[in-house]
Amino acid sequence: MKTVYVKSLYRDTESYAGKSVTVAGWVRNIRVSKNFGFIELYDGSFFKSVQVVFGEELDNFKDIAKLNISSSLYVEGKLELTPGAKQPFEIKTEKIVIEGLSSPDYPLQKKRHTLEYLRTIAHLRPRSNTFSAVFRVRSLAAFAIHKFFNERGFVYVHTPLITGSDAEGAGEMFRVTTLDLDNLPRTQDGKIDTKEDFFGKETNLTVSGQLEAETFALAFRDVYTFGPTFRAENSNTARHAAEFWMIEPEIAFADLEDNMALAEDMMKYVISYVLENAPEEMAFFNQFIDNTLLERLDNIVSSDFGRVTYTEAVDLLKKSGKEFEYPVEWGIDLQTEHERYLTEQIFKKPVFVINYPKEIKAFYMRLNDDNKTVAAMDLLVPGVGEIIGGSQREERYEVLEKKMEELGFNKEDYWWYMELRKYGGTKHAGYGLGFERMIMYLTGIGNIRDVIPFPRTVGSAEF
Ligand code: 4AD
Repeated sequence: MKTVYVKSLYRDTESYAGKSVTVAGWVRNIRVSKNFGFIELYDGSFFKSVQVVFGEELDNFKDIAKLNISSSLYVEGKLELTPGAKQPFEIKTEKIVIEGLSSPDYPLQKKRHTLEYLRTIAHLRPRSNTFSAVFRVRSLAAFAIHKFFNERGFVYVHTPLITGSDAEGAGEMFRVTTLDLDNLPRTQDGKIDTKEDFFGKETNLTVSGQLEAETFALAFRDVYTFGPTFRAENSNTARHAAEFWMIEPEIAFADLEDNMALAEDMMKYVISYVLENAPEEMAFFNQFIDNTLLERLDNIVSSDFGRVTYTEAVDLLKKSGKEFEYPVEWGIDLQTEHERYLTEQIFKKPVFVINYPKEIKAFYMRLNDDNKTVAAMDLLVPGVGEIIGGSQREERYEVLEKKMEELGFNKEDYWWYMELRKYGGTKHAGYGLGFERMIMYLTGIGNIRDVIPFPRTVGSAEF
Protein backbone atom coordinates (compact mmCIF):
# COMPACT_ATOMS: atom_id res chain seq x y z
CA MET A 1 0.00 0.00 0.00
CA LYS A 2 1.50 3.35 -1.01
CA THR A 3 1.44 5.66 1.99
CA VAL A 4 2.11 9.37 2.41
CA TYR A 5 4.18 10.64 5.33
CA VAL A 6 2.38 12.98 7.71
CA LYS A 7 5.27 15.41 7.31
CA SER A 8 4.46 15.76 3.58
CA LEU A 9 0.80 16.43 4.38
CA TYR A 10 1.81 19.33 6.65
CA ARG A 11 4.49 20.70 4.34
CA ASP A 12 2.46 20.40 1.09
CA THR A 13 -1.09 20.62 2.38
CA GLU A 14 -2.42 22.60 -0.61
CA SER A 15 -1.31 20.01 -3.15
CA TYR A 16 -3.08 17.20 -1.25
CA ALA A 17 -6.30 19.15 -0.63
CA GLY A 18 -9.37 17.26 -1.86
CA LYS A 19 -7.27 14.22 -2.83
CA SER A 20 -7.40 10.70 -1.48
CA VAL A 21 -4.36 9.69 0.61
CA THR A 22 -3.28 6.69 2.67
CA VAL A 23 -1.46 7.27 5.95
CA ALA A 24 0.11 4.65 8.22
CA GLY A 25 0.58 5.35 11.90
CA TRP A 26 -0.26 4.78 15.55
CA VAL A 27 -3.30 5.97 17.47
CA ARG A 28 -2.26 8.79 19.81
CA ASN A 29 -5.78 9.42 20.98
CA ILE A 30 -9.29 8.28 20.05
CA ARG A 31 -12.69 9.79 20.85
CA VAL A 32 -15.86 8.08 19.78
CA SER A 33 -19.49 9.12 19.94
CA LYS A 34 -22.45 7.05 18.80
CA ASN A 35 -21.95 7.07 15.04
CA PHE A 36 -18.66 8.82 14.38
CA GLY A 37 -15.23 9.33 15.97
CA PHE A 38 -11.86 11.09 15.82
CA ILE A 39 -8.42 9.57 15.86
CA GLU A 40 -5.19 11.48 16.31
CA LEU A 41 -2.88 9.44 14.10
CA TYR A 42 0.87 9.83 14.57
CA ASP A 43 3.36 8.40 12.11
CA GLY A 44 6.71 9.53 13.56
CA SER A 45 7.68 11.55 10.47
CA PHE A 46 6.46 14.82 11.97
CA PHE A 47 5.98 16.29 15.40
CA LYS A 48 2.21 16.59 14.98
CA SER A 49 -0.53 14.01 14.42
CA VAL A 50 -3.21 14.13 11.73
CA GLN A 51 -6.82 14.22 12.71
CA VAL A 52 -8.77 11.33 11.20
CA VAL A 53 -12.56 11.50 11.16
CA PHE A 54 -14.44 8.23 10.74
CA GLY A 55 -18.11 7.34 10.66
CA GLU A 56 -20.38 4.31 10.99
CA GLU A 57 -20.40 3.73 7.23
CA LEU A 58 -17.07 1.89 7.72
CA ASP A 59 -17.72 -1.90 7.82
CA ASN A 60 -15.36 -2.23 10.77
CA PHE A 61 -16.67 0.85 12.65
CA LYS A 62 -17.30 -1.18 15.82
CA ASP A 63 -13.76 -2.60 15.84
CA ILE A 64 -12.26 0.82 15.26
CA ALA A 65 -14.34 2.36 18.02
CA LYS A 66 -12.84 -0.16 20.47
CA LEU A 67 -9.20 0.53 19.58
CA ASN A 68 -6.73 1.23 22.35
CA ILE A 69 -4.08 3.93 22.23
CA SER A 70 -0.98 2.91 20.23
CA SER A 71 -2.78 0.51 17.88
CA SER A 72 -1.24 0.72 14.41
CA LEU A 73 -3.39 1.45 11.36
CA TYR A 74 -3.57 2.23 7.69
CA VAL A 75 -6.08 4.99 7.02
CA GLU A 76 -7.34 5.85 3.55
CA GLY A 77 -9.40 8.97 3.02
CA LYS A 78 -9.79 12.39 1.53
CA LEU A 79 -7.74 15.31 2.85
CA GLU A 80 -10.03 18.24 3.60
CA LEU A 81 -8.85 21.70 4.58
CA THR A 82 -10.32 22.96 7.85
CA PRO A 83 -9.67 26.71 7.92
CA GLY A 84 -10.17 28.24 11.33
CA ALA A 85 -9.89 24.90 13.18
CA LYS A 86 -7.01 23.94 15.51
CA GLN A 87 -5.45 21.75 12.84
CA PRO A 88 -5.18 22.98 9.22
CA PHE A 89 -6.74 19.83 7.71
CA GLU A 90 -8.27 16.46 8.50
CA ILE A 91 -8.76 13.14 6.78
CA LYS A 92 -12.34 12.05 6.06
CA THR A 93 -11.94 8.32 6.23
CA GLU A 94 -13.01 5.88 3.52
CA LYS A 95 -11.24 2.80 4.86
CA ILE A 96 -9.23 1.76 7.92
CA VAL A 97 -7.09 -1.38 8.06
CA ILE A 98 -5.95 -2.47 11.50
CA GLU A 99 -2.29 -3.49 11.39
CA GLY A 100 -1.57 -4.22 15.07
CA LEU A 101 -3.72 -4.02 18.18
CA SER A 102 -2.53 -2.48 21.44
CA SER A 103 -3.62 -3.49 24.92
CA PRO A 104 -5.48 -1.25 27.36
CA ASP A 105 -2.55 -1.25 29.80
CA TYR A 106 -0.38 0.77 27.36
CA PRO A 107 1.69 2.93 29.73
CA LEU A 108 1.67 6.14 27.69
CA GLN A 109 -1.89 7.26 28.13
CA LYS A 110 -2.95 10.78 27.13
CA LYS A 111 -1.66 12.72 30.12
CA ARG A 112 1.58 14.33 31.20
CA HIS A 113 4.14 11.89 32.56
CA THR A 114 7.23 12.88 34.51
CA LEU A 115 10.61 12.48 32.85
CA GLU A 116 11.63 10.22 35.76
CA TYR A 117 8.76 7.85 35.06
CA LEU A 118 9.49 7.85 31.34
CA ARG A 119 13.07 6.75 32.08
CA THR A 120 11.67 3.50 33.45
CA ILE A 121 10.12 2.77 30.04
CA ALA A 122 13.04 3.71 27.80
CA HIS A 123 11.74 1.30 25.13
CA LEU A 124 8.46 3.26 24.83
CA ARG A 125 9.45 6.81 25.64
CA PRO A 126 10.50 7.71 22.05
CA ARG A 127 6.74 7.67 21.38
CA SER A 128 6.05 10.55 23.78
CA ASN A 129 6.02 14.18 22.60
CA THR A 130 9.04 15.19 24.64
CA PHE A 131 11.23 12.33 23.51
CA SER A 132 10.11 12.46 19.94
CA ALA A 133 11.28 16.10 19.96
CA VAL A 134 14.54 15.34 21.81
CA PHE A 135 15.59 12.52 19.53
CA ARG A 136 14.71 14.32 16.33
CA VAL A 137 16.78 17.29 17.50
CA ARG A 138 19.59 14.89 18.43
CA SER A 139 19.54 13.40 14.95
CA LEU A 140 19.47 16.82 13.25
CA ALA A 141 22.28 18.16 15.45
CA ALA A 142 24.47 15.17 14.55
CA PHE A 143 23.82 15.81 10.89
CA ALA A 144 24.55 19.55 11.29
CA ILE A 145 27.91 18.76 12.90
CA HIS A 146 28.95 16.52 10.02
CA LYS A 147 27.70 19.13 7.55
CA PHE A 148 29.68 21.90 9.27
CA PHE A 149 32.97 20.02 9.19
CA ASN A 150 32.37 18.66 5.73
CA GLU A 151 31.75 22.16 4.33
CA ARG A 152 35.11 23.20 5.79
CA GLY A 153 36.94 20.28 4.20
CA PHE A 154 37.63 18.34 7.41
CA VAL A 155 38.33 14.61 7.14
CA TYR A 156 36.15 12.42 9.37
CA VAL A 157 38.35 9.89 11.19
CA HIS A 158 37.03 6.75 12.87
CA THR A 159 39.23 6.37 15.92
CA PRO A 160 39.26 3.05 17.78
CA LEU A 161 36.96 2.26 20.68
CA ILE A 162 39.35 -0.29 22.17
CA THR A 163 42.64 1.34 23.09
CA GLY A 164 45.91 0.57 24.81
CA SER A 165 46.48 4.13 26.11
CA ASP A 166 44.62 6.46 28.45
CA ALA A 167 43.98 9.63 26.42
CA GLU A 168 43.16 11.77 29.42
CA GLY A 169 45.59 10.15 31.85
CA ALA A 170 42.82 10.18 34.45
CA GLY A 171 42.51 6.41 34.88
CA GLU A 172 38.72 6.40 34.53
CA MET A 173 38.53 3.56 32.04
CA PHE A 174 36.46 0.44 31.51
CA ARG A 175 38.71 -2.56 31.07
CA VAL A 176 38.25 -4.76 28.00
CA THR A 177 39.25 -8.32 28.68
CA THR A 178 38.57 -11.93 27.74
CA LEU A 179 40.34 -13.23 30.84
CA ASP A 180 38.39 -15.47 33.17
CA LEU A 181 37.88 -13.24 36.20
CA ASP A 182 37.50 -16.23 38.53
CA ASN A 183 40.74 -17.72 37.39
CA LEU A 184 43.11 -14.96 36.36
CA PRO A 185 46.53 -15.87 34.94
CA ARG A 186 49.32 -14.52 37.14
CA THR A 187 52.97 -13.67 36.54
CA GLN A 188 55.64 -15.05 38.88
CA ASP A 189 55.33 -11.98 41.12
CA GLY A 190 51.57 -12.46 41.43
CA LYS A 191 50.40 -9.68 39.09
CA ILE A 192 47.73 -10.28 36.46
CA ASP A 193 49.48 -11.51 33.33
CA THR A 194 48.06 -9.17 30.67
CA LYS A 195 50.18 -10.87 27.99
CA GLU A 196 47.71 -13.75 28.27
CA ASP A 197 44.85 -11.45 27.32
CA PHE A 198 43.24 -11.21 23.87
CA PHE A 199 45.47 -8.37 22.62
CA GLY A 200 48.55 -9.47 24.54
CA LYS A 201 48.34 -6.35 26.71
CA GLU A 202 45.92 -4.39 28.88
CA THR A 203 43.21 -2.63 26.87
CA ASN A 204 40.31 -0.34 27.72
CA LEU A 205 37.33 1.38 26.16
CA THR A 206 38.39 4.77 24.88
CA VAL A 207 37.81 7.92 26.94
CA SER A 208 38.59 10.15 23.95
CA GLY A 209 39.70 9.76 20.33
CA GLN A 210 42.01 12.73 20.62
CA LEU A 211 45.44 11.07 20.56
CA GLU A 212 44.58 9.06 17.46
CA ALA A 213 42.95 12.15 15.88
CA GLU A 214 46.23 14.00 16.38
CA THR A 215 48.00 11.41 14.20
CA PHE A 216 45.51 12.14 11.42
CA ALA A 217 45.71 15.95 11.87
CA LEU A 218 49.44 15.66 11.24
CA ALA A 219 48.63 13.96 7.95
CA PHE A 220 45.41 15.67 6.76
CA ARG A 221 45.66 18.96 8.67
CA ASP A 222 41.97 19.35 9.58
CA VAL A 223 40.16 16.28 10.92
CA TYR A 224 37.42 15.35 13.37
CA THR A 225 36.04 12.32 15.14
CA PHE A 226 32.45 11.80 16.20
CA GLY A 227 31.85 8.67 18.20
CA PRO A 228 31.07 7.06 21.52
CA THR A 229 33.42 7.44 24.47
CA PHE A 230 33.33 5.76 27.85
CA ARG A 231 34.19 6.94 31.33
CA ALA A 232 34.06 4.97 34.55
CA GLU A 233 33.64 8.20 36.52
CA ASN A 234 31.72 7.55 39.67
CA SER A 235 29.88 10.88 39.43
CA ASN A 236 26.19 10.49 39.80
CA THR A 237 25.19 13.89 38.41
CA ALA A 238 22.71 15.19 35.87
CA ARG A 239 25.58 15.93 33.44
CA HIS A 240 27.68 12.76 33.53
CA ALA A 241 27.13 9.50 31.70
CA ALA A 242 29.36 6.45 31.50
CA GLU A 243 28.80 6.24 27.72
CA PHE A 244 28.51 9.49 25.79
CA TRP A 245 29.33 10.78 22.33
CA MET A 246 32.04 13.26 21.64
CA ILE A 247 32.94 15.41 18.66
CA GLU A 248 36.67 16.02 18.54
CA PRO A 249 38.14 18.22 15.83
CA GLU A 250 41.93 18.45 15.61
CA ILE A 251 43.63 21.13 13.50
CA ALA A 252 47.29 21.42 12.50
CA PHE A 253 49.22 24.69 12.09
CA ALA A 254 46.73 26.15 14.54
CA ASP A 255 46.85 27.64 18.02
CA LEU A 256 44.38 28.26 20.84
CA GLU A 257 42.86 31.31 19.09
CA ASP A 258 42.14 29.25 15.96
CA ASN A 259 40.67 26.56 18.18
CA MET A 260 38.28 28.98 19.90
CA ALA A 261 37.23 30.52 16.59
CA LEU A 262 36.39 27.05 15.24
CA ALA A 263 34.41 26.10 18.34
CA GLU A 264 32.40 29.32 18.26
CA ASP A 265 31.59 28.95 14.55
CA MET A 266 30.58 25.31 15.06
CA MET A 267 28.27 26.09 17.98
CA LYS A 268 26.52 28.87 16.08
CA TYR A 269 26.19 26.75 12.95
CA VAL A 270 24.62 23.81 14.78
CA ILE A 271 22.20 26.01 16.75
CA SER A 272 21.08 27.85 13.60
CA TYR A 273 20.64 24.59 11.71
CA VAL A 274 18.44 23.07 14.40
CA LEU A 275 16.36 26.25 14.84
CA GLU A 276 15.73 26.30 11.12
CA ASN A 277 15.03 22.61 10.63
CA ALA A 278 13.07 21.70 13.75
CA PRO A 279 10.84 24.75 14.38
CA GLU A 280 7.94 22.71 15.81
CA GLU A 281 10.18 20.78 18.23
CA MET A 282 12.01 23.92 19.36
CA ALA A 283 8.71 25.74 19.95
CA PHE A 284 7.60 22.76 22.05
CA PHE A 285 10.73 22.94 24.26
CA ASN A 286 10.23 26.67 24.65
CA GLN A 287 6.65 26.13 25.76
CA PHE A 288 7.04 23.11 28.05
CA ILE A 289 10.68 22.86 29.16
CA ASP A 290 12.27 26.32 29.30
CA ASN A 291 10.46 29.42 28.14
CA THR A 292 13.62 31.47 27.68
CA LEU A 293 15.16 28.91 25.34
CA LEU A 294 14.45 30.43 21.93
CA GLU A 295 15.39 33.93 22.97
CA ARG A 296 18.63 32.64 24.49
CA LEU A 297 19.61 30.60 21.45
CA ASP A 298 18.78 33.46 19.06
CA ASN A 299 21.01 35.80 21.10
CA ILE A 300 23.87 33.35 21.04
CA VAL A 301 23.83 33.06 17.30
CA SER A 302 24.05 36.83 16.92
CA SER A 303 26.57 37.79 19.64
CA ASP A 304 30.25 37.09 20.33
CA PHE A 305 31.23 34.56 22.98
CA GLY A 306 33.05 35.91 26.05
CA ARG A 307 36.73 35.15 26.76
CA VAL A 308 38.47 35.19 30.10
CA THR A 309 41.64 33.68 31.53
CA TYR A 310 41.38 31.25 34.42
CA THR A 311 43.22 33.75 36.63
CA GLU A 312 40.74 36.54 35.76
CA ALA A 313 37.82 34.16 36.25
CA VAL A 314 39.03 33.28 39.74
CA ASP A 315 39.32 37.01 40.56
CA LEU A 316 35.81 37.68 39.25
CA LEU A 317 34.36 34.85 41.31
CA LYS A 318 36.14 35.99 44.45
CA LYS A 319 35.03 39.60 43.96
CA SER A 320 31.43 38.56 43.29
CA GLY A 321 30.80 38.21 47.01
CA LYS A 322 28.85 35.00 46.37
CA GLU A 323 29.31 32.27 48.99
CA PHE A 324 30.16 29.12 47.07
CA GLU A 325 29.88 25.68 48.59
CA TYR A 326 33.40 25.00 47.34
CA PRO A 327 35.58 28.08 48.06
CA VAL A 328 37.41 29.65 45.13
CA GLU A 329 41.21 29.80 45.19
CA TRP A 330 43.75 29.99 42.38
CA GLY A 331 44.66 26.39 41.58
CA ILE A 332 41.28 24.72 42.17
CA ASP A 333 39.45 22.92 39.42
CA LEU A 334 36.37 25.05 38.73
CA GLN A 335 33.23 23.28 39.96
CA THR A 336 29.85 23.32 38.27
CA GLU A 337 28.62 26.03 40.67
CA HIS A 338 31.54 28.30 39.65
CA GLU A 339 31.16 27.55 35.96
CA ARG A 340 27.46 28.28 36.01
CA TYR A 341 27.91 31.48 38.00
CA LEU A 342 30.48 32.74 35.50
CA THR A 343 28.39 32.05 32.43
CA GLU A 344 24.91 32.73 33.88
CA GLN A 345 25.51 35.65 36.26
CA ILE A 346 28.70 37.39 35.20
CA PHE A 347 28.88 36.99 31.41
CA LYS A 348 25.27 35.98 30.69
CA LYS A 349 26.42 34.22 27.52
CA PRO A 350 28.81 31.42 26.48
CA VAL A 351 32.34 32.10 27.69
CA PHE A 352 35.73 30.53 27.00
CA VAL A 353 37.94 30.15 30.05
CA ILE A 354 41.58 29.75 29.00
CA ASN A 355 45.06 29.17 30.44
CA TYR A 356 44.38 26.87 33.40
CA PRO A 357 46.97 25.86 36.01
CA LYS A 358 49.05 23.03 34.58
CA GLU A 359 48.46 20.80 37.63
CA ILE A 360 44.74 20.39 36.99
CA LYS A 361 44.85 19.72 33.26
CA ALA A 362 45.83 16.79 31.03
CA PHE A 363 49.43 15.91 30.16
CA TYR A 364 49.20 16.82 26.47
CA MET A 365 48.31 20.51 26.92
CA ARG A 366 50.90 23.07 25.82
CA LEU A 367 52.85 24.71 28.61
CA ASN A 368 52.61 28.52 28.51
CA ASP A 369 55.66 30.79 28.86
CA ASP A 370 54.74 31.56 32.50
CA ASN A 371 55.55 27.89 33.27
CA LYS A 372 52.47 27.79 35.50
CA THR A 373 49.56 27.53 33.09
CA VAL A 374 48.72 25.53 29.98
CA ALA A 375 46.97 26.64 26.78
CA ALA A 376 43.68 25.00 27.70
CA MET A 377 40.18 26.19 26.88
CA ASP A 378 36.82 25.23 28.34
CA LEU A 379 33.62 26.61 26.87
CA LEU A 380 30.96 27.26 29.50
CA VAL A 381 27.33 27.85 28.53
CA PRO A 382 24.33 29.02 30.56
CA GLY A 383 22.17 26.21 31.86
CA VAL A 384 24.74 23.47 31.35
CA GLY A 385 28.18 24.71 32.41
CA GLU A 386 31.14 23.07 30.66
CA ILE A 387 30.21 21.87 27.20
CA ILE A 388 33.62 21.85 25.48
CA GLY A 389 37.11 21.05 26.75
CA GLY A 390 40.15 21.54 24.55
CA SER A 391 43.66 22.89 24.21
CA GLN A 392 46.64 23.64 22.10
CA ARG A 393 48.77 20.50 22.23
CA GLU A 394 52.34 20.26 23.48
CA GLU A 395 54.30 19.87 20.26
CA ARG A 396 57.80 20.13 21.84
CA TYR A 397 59.25 16.64 22.27
CA GLU A 398 61.38 17.38 25.32
CA VAL A 399 58.70 19.35 27.15
CA LEU A 400 56.17 16.56 26.61
CA GLU A 401 58.64 13.87 27.63
CA LYS A 402 59.45 15.75 30.83
CA LYS A 403 55.75 16.10 31.64
CA MET A 404 55.13 12.39 31.16
CA GLU A 405 58.06 11.57 33.39
CA GLU A 406 56.77 13.90 36.09
CA LEU A 407 53.40 12.18 35.97
CA GLY A 408 54.96 8.71 36.05
CA PHE A 409 53.52 7.62 32.69
CA ASN A 410 54.57 4.40 31.10
CA LYS A 411 56.24 5.94 28.06
CA GLU A 412 56.16 2.68 26.12
CA ASP A 413 52.39 3.05 25.81
CA TYR A 414 52.78 6.40 24.07
CA TRP A 415 55.78 5.80 21.78
CA TRP A 416 53.76 6.48 18.65
CA TYR A 417 52.34 9.68 20.16
CA MET A 418 55.87 10.91 20.88
CA GLU A 419 56.99 10.13 17.33
CA LEU A 420 54.49 12.67 16.00
CA ARG A 421 56.71 15.26 17.69
CA LYS A 422 59.80 13.81 16.04
CA TYR A 423 58.79 13.71 12.39
CA GLY A 424 57.71 17.20 11.37
CA GLY A 425 55.74 18.06 14.48
CA THR A 426 53.84 21.29 14.27
CA LYS A 427 51.74 23.41 16.48
CA HIS A 428 48.23 21.97 16.61
CA ALA A 429 45.07 22.20 18.68
CA GLY A 430 41.67 20.60 19.18
CA TYR A 431 38.72 20.19 21.45
CA GLY A 432 35.97 17.82 22.50
CA LEU A 433 32.31 18.77 22.47
CA GLY A 434 30.14 16.56 24.67
CA PHE A 435 27.29 15.74 22.31
CA GLU A 436 24.74 15.07 25.06
CA ARG A 437 25.55 18.35 26.75
CA MET A 438 24.98 20.06 23.41
CA ILE A 439 21.54 18.43 23.19
CA MET A 440 20.76 19.54 26.76
CA TYR A 441 21.74 23.05 25.75
CA LEU A 442 19.61 22.97 22.59
CA THR A 443 16.51 21.59 24.26
CA GLY A 444 16.66 22.99 27.79
CA ILE A 445 16.41 19.42 29.16
CA GLY A 446 18.16 19.35 32.53
CA ASN A 447 19.26 15.72 32.86
CA ILE A 448 21.65 13.86 30.58
CA ARG A 449 19.56 10.69 31.04
CA ASP A 450 16.84 12.36 29.00
CA VAL A 451 18.88 13.12 25.90
CA ILE A 452 20.40 9.64 25.38
CA PRO A 453 18.20 6.90 23.93
CA PHE A 454 19.46 4.28 26.40
CA PRO A 455 21.54 6.03 29.08
CA ARG A 456 24.34 4.26 30.91
CA THR A 457 25.05 5.82 34.27
CA VAL A 458 26.33 4.49 37.59
CA GLY A 459 24.15 1.53 38.57
CA SER A 460 21.94 1.74 35.50
CA ALA A 461 22.06 -0.25 32.25
CA GLU A 462 18.59 -1.82 32.17
CA PHE A 463 17.72 -1.52 28.50
O1 4AD B 1 37.18 17.91 28.86
P1 4AD B 1 37.19 16.50 28.33
O2 4AD B 1 37.52 15.41 29.27
O3 4AD B 1 38.20 16.56 27.11
C1 4AD B 1 38.68 15.50 26.40
O4 4AD B 1 38.34 14.36 26.49
C2 4AD B 1 39.67 15.93 25.35
N1 4AD B 1 40.45 14.76 24.94
C3 4AD B 1 38.93 16.54 24.21
C4 4AD B 1 39.84 17.03 23.11
O5 4AD B 1 40.55 17.98 23.33
N2 4AD B 1 39.81 16.38 21.96
O6 4AD B 1 35.78 16.18 27.68
C5 4AD B 1 35.27 16.99 26.65
C6 4AD B 1 33.79 17.20 26.82
C7 4AD B 1 33.40 17.91 28.10
O7 4AD B 1 33.50 19.31 27.94
C8 4AD B 1 31.96 17.46 28.27
O8 4AD B 1 31.10 18.22 27.44
C9 4AD B 1 31.99 16.05 27.75
O9 4AD B 1 33.11 15.93 26.90
N3 4AD B 1 32.09 15.06 28.83
C10 4AD B 1 31.06 14.32 29.27
N4 4AD B 1 29.78 14.28 28.89
C11 4AD B 1 28.96 13.42 29.52
N5 4AD B 1 29.36 12.57 30.49
C12 4AD B 1 30.63 12.57 30.92
N6 4AD B 1 31.03 11.71 31.86
C13 4AD B 1 31.56 13.48 30.30
N7 4AD B 1 32.86 13.73 30.44
C14 4AD B 1 33.16 14.70 29.55
